[in-house]
Amino acid sequence: MSKPLEGIKIIDFTHVQAGPACTQLLAWFGADVIKVERPGSGDVTRSQLRDIPDADALYFTMLNSNKRSLTLDTKTPEGKEVLEKLVKESDVLVENFAPGALDRMGFTWERLSELNPKLIVASVKGFSDGHHYDDLKVYENVAQCAGGAASTTGFWDGPPTVSAAALGDSNTGMHLAIGILTALIGRGQTGRGQKVAVSMQDSVINLCRVKLRDQQRLDRVGYLEEYPQYPHGEFSDVVPRGGNAGGGGQPGWVLKCKGWETDPNAYIYFTIQGHAWEPICRALGKPEWINDPNYATAQARQPHIFDIFATIEEWLADKTKYEAVDILRKFDIPCAPVLSMKEIANDPSLRASGTIVEVPHKERGTYLTVGSPIKFSGLKPEITGSPLLGEHTDEILAELGYSKEQIANLHTSRSV
Ligand code: COA
Repeated sequence: MSKPLEGIKIIDFTHVQAGPACTQLLAWFGADVIKVERPGSGDVTRSQLRDIPDADALYFTMLNSNKRSLTLDTKTPEGKEVLEKLVKESDVLVENFAPGALDRMGFTWERLSELNPKLIVASVKGFSDGHHYDDLKVYENVAQCAGGAASTTGFWDGPPTVSAAALGDSNTGMHLAIGILTALIGRGQTGRGQKVAVSMQDSVINLCRVKLRDQQRLDRVGYLEEYPQYPHGEFSDVVPRGGNAGGGGQPGWVLKCKGWETDPNAYIYFTIQGHAWEPICRALGKPEWINDPNYATAQARQPHIFDIFATIEEWLADKTKYEAVDILRKFDIPCAPVLSMKEIANDPSLRASGTIVEVPHKERGTYLTVGSPIKFSGLKPEITGSPLLGEHTDEILAELGYSKEQIANLHTSRSV
């Protein structure tokens, strides 16, 4: 099966998570992704949080599958020459260095587009160009705080809280991938490449859109009826942290199931969809609530929504999270068990769909990773193991026209 991005060559000048997540996605879909890494050390994640001494860490292997690795010191004249050759032959260069690092190396946008006017140069930075913080180095949680996620996550009586989901890193990489694919289509129309930039702050804000919705509602009416603070608590002039409240017009909460005292994940998420009130009452064995004026409408329920949740928890007390969902699904109630990472790793449906995959690795044996969350009818992304540091250096140099002797000289000068 041919892959849609076959024939697209990408210089993957990325490290850590945001950039690698982007290029890994493009590699799954067929692009030839050449990971350029500093000789000797490579991407810092190769050695971060290691679980097997001297083997590439899972942090690296899970973000760099389907790629080739070229070691190159892009600060030596010989290394710069190799990169220039590669630039001339490539479609895209992706980077997520600190602000100004690529320019300091001598590879400004002007220089790169002079070398190859068709090149798309895609960058991740913490803040967008011209922002008053655009000189800052940024990691995941910094972006979550600067993007509005932390101030609106957690419980009202606790501090701002970051999410375990990589809203700043992988999410930014996904935004960048969309930008690159758009620029590739644009190049088909104009014949020219362009600069594509995504900031981590902007990508987090894009996912916090509904909280900006809430700020404007709060400014206008002074309260937010779907938050637990309504109607008994106080609102200030900023969007509060709402715990586990549903973010839309459907109230929901995380509810305890059988075994919660010892199992930290014996919970389900339960949503009270307005039009599903009748089936909810039937599922709970509370038919008297269906037409009771204290319960019949969403507005009537709101003042005692937590009493309703407490009643549902009583119903859940003798059911495991799986048993509860199996009953509730018959009533069309939007709900799910709270799954641990262990449960996700072993979930047969996720294995069957290719979302969780086991892939071979030369040093590690096999490792578990997240496969493509995007499913196609005409493409089944096949996930291969991540490359060892410099595994493809000689092969890529030979493709660029370097002779065996020249390659040996590059090794001797430690440029590769
Ligand atoms: N050959 C020679 N030099 C190389 C090289 C190579 N193959 N690869 C990297 N370098 C150099 C860079 O040019 C830079 O040199 P300089 O500081 O002299 O200009 C140096 O290595 C370090 O790069 P830097 O990006 O500053 O790394 P860092 O470890 O200090 O910072 C981040 C890491 C992630 C904080 C920073 O890169 C950053 O803010 N990136 C943008 C936002 C981002 O992507 N954040 C991370 C999301 S996971």
